[in-house]
Order: sequence, then C-alpha cells, then structure tokens
Amino acid sequence: MVDDVWTTDSSATLLLVGSGFQAYREWILRSVSRRFRLWLLSSSPADWATPYLAGQTFVDALDVDAAIAAVRTLRETRPLAGILCYDELRIVAGATIAEALGLPTTSARSVLACRDKRLSRQLMTEAGDLGPQSIGVTDLAGAQRAAERIGYPVVLKPRALAGSEGVAKVDGPGQLVERFAFTKAAHFDDVPRFDEDVLVEEYLDGPEIAIDSVVWKGEVRPVFVSHKQFDLAPTFEETGHVISAEDPLLRDRELTELVRAAHSALGFDHGVTHTEVRLTRHGPRIVEVNGRLGGDLIPYVGLLATGIDLALAAADLAARRMPDLRPRRARTAAVRFYYPARDLVVERVRVDPAGLPPHISEVRPLAGQGDTLLRPPGAFVFGRAAAGFAVADDQDTCRRALDGLADTIEIAGHPVPEKQPI
Ligand SMILES: Nc1ncnc2c1ncn2[C@@H]1O[C@H](COP(=O)(O)OP(=O)(O)OP(=O)(O)O)[C@@H](O)[C@H]1O
Ligand SMILES: [Mg+2]
Repeated sequence: MVDDVWTTDSSATLLLVGSGFQAYREWILRSVSRRFRLWLLSSSPADWATPYLAGQTFVDALDVDAAIAAVRTLRETRPLAGILCYDELRIVAGATIAEALGLPTTSARSVLACRDKRLSRQLMTEAGDLGPQSIGVTDLAGAQRAAERIGYPVVLKPRALAGSEGVAKVDGPGQLVERFAFTKAAHFDDVPRFDEDVLVEEYLDGPEIAIDSVVWKGEVRPVFVSHKQFDLAPTFEETGHVISAEDPLLRDRELTELVRAAHSALGFDHGVTHTEVRLTRHGPRIVEVNGRLGGDLIPYVGLLATGIDLALAAADLAARRMPDLRPRRARTAAVRFYYPARDLVVERVRVDPAGLPPHISEVRPLAGQGDTLLRPPGAFVFGRAAAGFAVADDQDTCRRALDGLADTIEIAGHPVPEKQPI
C-alpha cells in the first residue's frame, strides 16, 4: 500500500470511497472539494479525480479489513470528518468502514438492505407490501414456478447489480427461457455470485419516478422528484430524466408516506437516498431504495432546476453537518441520453454549438473515438454516446428542446467487427 500526498493541509477531510466515471461524477467532486479536503480510497489511480483530491490511499474498499486498517493508519496523521461513497458496488463497504471507525453513517446493515434486492423485498413485504411480490430463484425451473405463482407479466432481475443490467420484462411463458438466460448471465466482476441470484417479480405497471431525499436523524425529507423516460423496451434502460422544482408530487401524502415507510423498513436513518417508485393504478409502489446519491446525473439535474446541491448535502451529512436545502431557483431541468442508431465503433461524437436548440444548457459526449457502443440490451449505460441538458419553465419545453438536440448530435462510426471463432 502506498500513500500519495498532494497537500499537507489537514482541515476537514472526507474519505471518498471510489470516484466513478468522470462524465457522471466530476460535478460532485467539483462541488464537494470546495468545502472539504477529499482523500480517495481506491486501488486504481485517481486519474481524472486528481485535481479534486488532497491525496489517495491505494486499497480497494471491497477488501474491507485491509481498508479499515489503512484508514486507521491514515487517521493517525489526518483527522477524518467522515466517509463519502456514491459507488453502488462499494456503499456497504463504505458504511462498514465508517462504522468501524465511529464516523457518521447509517448502519452497514441498512445499506446492505438497500443493496441486496432480495433482502430489500423481504423487509418491505414485512412492512406491508411496499413493493411488488418478489421470489428469489436459482434456475429456470424455479423461475417458471415463480412466474406461474405471481402471474405474467413478470420482471426478471439480478439480485444485486446496477444500471438496469440484466433486468427484463417477460410478457408470457414463451419469452421466459430466453429472458431468464439473459438475466442469469448478467454479472459484474466486483459482485459475488449469490445463491438465488435472480428475482422474479410482479410487474408494476405505471410511470416511474424517483425521489431524492435527505435523511437526518431518521427523518426523511424528499428534495427532488424526477420522472424517468424509457424508450428501449423490453429493456429498462433509462433514456432521460426530468425534474421540476415545484413538482406537486413532492407534497403528495401517499407518496411521501411510502418513501418514509420504506426507509424505516430498511432501517436507513442517515444520508442521502434515491428511491425509485412506480405510480400504479393501485397507488405508488417501491421499485428500490438506493442508499446513496442517485446516478444518471439526476441530482445534477435537480441542481439545475432548484439550485439545491445534493452532492454537497451528501458530503455535509457524511461529516454530520446539517445540509443547506434552501432552493435558489424554481425551474424545470432535464437530461436525455443519446444512442447510436445501430451498434458501432465510434469515429466521432460531435455537436455543432451554433445549431443548439433554445433551452439547451449543455451537451456532453459520453463516448470517444474507438469506443464500441452497443444498443441495449447489448450494453446499457455504456451504450450511450452523449448526454444533453435542458432548462426551461416546464417539462414539455425541456422535452421538445431535447428532441431537437438529437438532430444536431452527429454520432459517426463503423460497424462492430464480427467476433472471430476461436
Ligand atoms: N417489479 C418491477 N416492476 C416494474 N418495473 C420494474 C420492476 N423491477 C424493476 N423494474 C424496472 O427496471 C428498472 C431497473 O430495476 P432496478 O432499479 O431494480 O435495477 P438496477 O440495476 O438497480 O437499476 P438502476 O441502477 O438503473 O436503478 C427500474 O427502474 C424499473 O423501471
Ligand atoms: Mg434502480
């Protein structure tokens, strides 16, 4: 283990567990590093995050015992105010390290209850069917039995992945064999294989929203409601999100009670969360509670809409400081992701700045020359070529602006080479 030190200033340091992908996470570090010194815990070089860091300890948080030992050593020379982690695969490790060192955190058990979708469902079912029926299975025969019991359509999903990898809707028995194989095959190197690693679930029909909340002393305060866009069925790849500062759902009693009940069932009492909900004919139902800042740049869209900086709030909570949640503006903001029309190896992703439609605030390439982009289900977030942002007074204006932006983004490339037989 090697320590790199880039500055000797030791005022209020937060340990950052994993830094993630630049296009999605740099805004967080830009914001948080203005208030806190950040010290990265990661086994890979800091790379793009370097300008925001005071230093780095080279150890992977997933090696929890080694990480705790390393952080104890670090603390001998550098006081730590807390631990910040937004990497879904490392949030349980982050909370475990915080608990071991007596730093502010919700319990590691409650973070695991968010992270392990089977445990989540058990707790939320016991608390009064807050989410769909869900049955853990190991093989196709188990999936067939579970789907018959629940009734089609069902959703198949991996027990503990992220980014909608391997999640699929199954409309009837004829699709089950192929879709089960798809879900079962989904795997991340950093996630251990569970037994009962596939969940078969009742399909919650209805629009999907997410509620970003701040949880302080056990009290859940919803801050943003985002509305998700899906255009790539049968996958659940999320192609965009829109947030209005004054969304009436923020004050909807049934919805806010559901979100509170879910946090209480999971035991999550401190930190920032991202709760996904489907608005069904029978009322709102929980898809899942993410025990961290939301992904897909959703809190950044919330910042554009309201001026409330949830990244800074997450950092403040990590240091047990009361976050500032006062809105600074009341707009509507949206992000949209753009995909190539077919699978390709990128030659260029280019936008003509002079041709941007009104209300577009920013466009970011998410892929560059030589990257292979596969349309879902070949890839999910890694199939995206660009992200566009709009800020306006209402959702329709944002949507129209982002529809228009599609025509000004050039995604050029050549066909993906066929795999050679070995
Ligand atoms: N039981 C269900 N009924 C209807 N839709 C579902 C159900 N479970 C999951 N989905 C859909 O699939 C999406 C991805 O599922 P889920 O959030 O559980 O997986 P994930 O891999 O954590 O995804 P992400 O990281 O994108 O949130 C959900 O946002 C939702 O649209
Ligand atoms: Mg999810």
